[in-house]
Amino acid sequence: MTKDIERVLFTEKDIAAKVAELGARISKDYAGKDPVIVSVLKGSFIFMADLVRAITIPCTIDFMSVSSYGSGTSSSGEVRIVKDFDGSVNGRHLILVEDILDSGRTLSYLMQTLKTRGAASISLCTFLDKPERRVVPVEVAYKGFTVPDSFIVGYGLDYDQKYRNLPYVGVLKTSVYGGE
Ligand code: IMP
Ligand code: MG
Repeated sequence: MTKDIERVLFTEKDIAAKVAELGARISKDYAGKDPVIVSVLKGSFIFMADLVRAITIPCTIDFMSVSSYGSGTSSSGEVRIVKDFDGSVNGRHLILVEDILDSGRTLSYLMQTLKTRGAASISLCTFLDKPERRVVPVEVAYKGFTVPDSFIVGYGLDYDQKYRNLPYVGVLKTSVYGGE
């Protein structure tokens, strides 16, 4: 797997420090609010698992799954809720957890949909942000790292469902997906 990685962007150590920082911020901001932390699958599963363990206040967790990408490397623009989360968010403070914010289409759609469900507040926590690629503006409350406009894998992020299990974050060699 590592032979397909052009360069490492963030090591396990970098990631652990950042996740601890985000967890501390969320714990402070949401003290007494009992937030619902919703992981947008599959990409955020590792980040979510680490993040919730860095959160020291009571919270509940849930999962949802949307599809916006096929097996390629660029956004189709189409967003579909494949699995909705189970609990009600009526009157609750919602924190959406994503792996990477790219065009912004997925999250902008999700935020809009979830706003109609009566949450007291909705904020966004994304592990990575690729601002150069933004098509739709999205407000981000908690951000891990900013990344360049390259295809990124590892720590939950995939290419064609692979590389999610890399413990670090790296740039995928373009030769792997025949990119430009
Ligand atoms: P958006 O709707 O374009 O913001 O797409 C966000 C989704 O695209 C993320 O949740 C990822 O699943 C996927 N994605 C975007 N960029 C990358 C990348 O560099 N590596 C892996 N997945 C990516
Ligand atoms: Mg994803």
